[in-house]
Amino acid sequence: MKLRRYRAADTEGLAAVFTSSVHALAVDQYDAAQRHAWASLPPDLDEWRQRFEGLHTIVAEEAGSYLGFISYEENGHIDLLYTAPGAARKGVASALLREAVTQLSTAGDTPELFTEASLVAVPFFSRHGFEITEEQTLVRRGVSFQRFAMRRG
Ligand SMILES: CC(C)(COP(=O)(O)OP(=O)(O)OC[C@H]1O[C@@H](n2cnc3c(N)ncnc32)[C@H](O)[C@@H]1OP(=O)(O)O)[C@@H](O)C(=O)NCCC(=O)NCCS
Repeated sequence: MKLRRYRAADTEGLAAVFTSSVHALAVDQYDAAQRHAWASLPPDLDEWRQRFEGLHTIVAEEAGSYLGFISYEENGHIDLLYTAPGAARKGVASALLREAVTQLSTAGDTPELFTEASLVAVPFFSRHGFEITEEQTLVRRGVSFQRFAMRRG
């Protein structure tokens, strides 16, 4: 697996990873209406281009295929973390998180991190030392979702 910085040419591939990840990996936790509100089909590529422009993104790939990506902000906010369904539970998201921490670390200081985790992602972030600070209900495209604010550090 290779980790590298996002390039504009990755937009379509990463939007596809996001969409397939939500529809396959979140199927037990969120119903179809929730998954479609979270990840529209087809993805809106202009919206994705703009979103990536405002974030730092690291891509994981192997043999030219996308395995996953993480997008974060300088303040330690993990905005997006998605693994391709076929690559789940192989350490991809863990490697991406470790790389983001390395990039965010200045002069050896471990950065404080925070995120809004889906029900699918809570066990992952807990495993990485995050704690739930708040349960949230989010309304997107008229559909409500449960998620959890989590923090580490
Ligand atoms: C959450 C997500 C990013 C985890 O990606 P991943 O590459 O499978 O994670 P890793 O392989 O690095 O997992 C590391 C550890 O986290 C925990 N973990 C990860 N996914 C888990 C799951 N579905 N259930 C329980 N524990 C899980 C396990 O402890 C795992 O270690 P193990 O496989 O040795 O048991 C992935 O499931 C995903 O993309 N989900 C759908 C989209 C989503 O919810 N993204 C986050 C938005 S906030």
